[in-house]
Amino acid sequence: MAERRFKRIVAAYSGGLDTSVMIPWLQERYGAEIVTYTGDLGQGEDLDAIRAKALATGASEAVVDDLRDRFVEEFIWPAVKASAVYEGQYPLHTALGRPLLARRIVEVAREVGADAVAHGCTAKGNDQVRFEVTFRALAPDLGVIAPLREWEMRTREEEVDYAVARGISIPITRDKPYSIDQNLWGCAIECGEMEDLWAEPPDDAWIMTRDPAHAPKGSVEIVIGFERGVPVSIDGRPMGGVRLIEYLNDLAGTFGVGRIDMVENRVVGLKSREVYEAPAATLLHMAHTELERITLDRPTFNYKRKISQDYANIIYDGTWFGPLRDALQAFVDHSQQTVTGEVRIRVSAGLARVVGRRSPYSLYDQGLATYSEGDIFDREAAEGFLKLYSLGYRTLAEARRRAEERRADRDGEDG
Ligand code: ARG
Repeated sequence: MAERRFKRIVAAYSGGLDTSVMIPWLQERYGAEIVTYTGDLGQGEDLDAIRAKALATGASEAVVDDLRDRFVEEFIWPAVKASAVYEGQYPLHTALGRPLLARRIVEVAREVGADAVAHGCTAKGNDQVRFEVTFRALAPDLGVIAPLREWEMRTREEEVDYAVARGISIPITRDKPYSIDQNLWGCAIECGEMEDLWAEPPDDAWIMTRDPAHAPKGSVEIVIGFERGVPVSIDGRPMGGVRLIEYLNDLAGTFGVGRIDMVENRVVGLKSREVYEAPAATLLHMAHTELERITLDRPTFNYKRKISQDYANIIYDGTWFGPLRDALQAFVDHSQQTVTGEVRIRVSAGLARVVGRRSPYSLYDQGLATYSEGDIFDREAAEGFLKLYSLGYRTLAEARRRAEERRADRDGEDG
């Protein structure tokens, strides 16, 4: 590989082993000064400690941002409105965070006059795709470095040796053998014994949810309020997005709701076992779709379901900043104009179910739907409707009958 030199590199930094080793490695390999970037998406880490650690590891500057509000307003809520869930199960917490982090990294690169950016993603994952597509879309002139695809180190042990040789304090990990990516919208847990598809995820793999077997007895009811497709209140109390998601993560997590164990198709062509926790996301998608069931007309509801799949793939595939997402967003936003109202959900051990819904824009008409007193449905109209609705099938049956007769006549002549 041709050696390129860089003056200053902005590196995505989580404080974990890979991104810690990246700092000296980038300095040595590219002769560059390193500025680290860490965005708080609600991963629940001590950000002051992360900043101090980056500086202690050799960064000349460590930028740390609280991105939680932007993450919710600009990424999570659009995804809720779009009902974006990958392959029917994954609410996309990691995939939604990447374009925001990548955009901030580009902005910081401009601020500090960097000529390259770096990330700590592996060659097998989707995250490299999401970072690099965004980097190239927003700043095609910047160099992009993926040390984990380049360096000679193959194992954690080699990385630890590398760090120790340079006197760098590394995260002490006698801890779990899992790769974890957590934020406000959920948590992904990979590796370890879960690479065997038949093996049940071990008890110690879970972070945000309690084992449903140890959930509180009984159930609780909550009412989630939406305005134009965006969650705005719990039990009638208005709540900001970050707070609302934290509240639901807590509540549903306590009851063991939101555990997902799936095998998914990665962008790079392989299948992987992914264990997710998405307590708030599970409740919010459930409630939001329920509200759409009463506020959207049938063709729009069904059409939007098709769009949702495409929209989820766009997020997953890392093309958030592309023109198709913008175009679909316009459709989605328009469709949400009447998605205002409330949904009642009952949460019990390992289970959340919708038990009620209401909206000022509801298209449900009890007079039309009722089988009791007060029925206004025109029964005779149904008769006429069915005459025409079934016309094609009657015609088909008639044609088949005639063909059958002709065949019987022919068979008779032959015999
Ligand atoms: N498979 C999920 C995705 O591609 C989760 C990735 C989790 N990332 C991680 N670095 N552990 O979005």
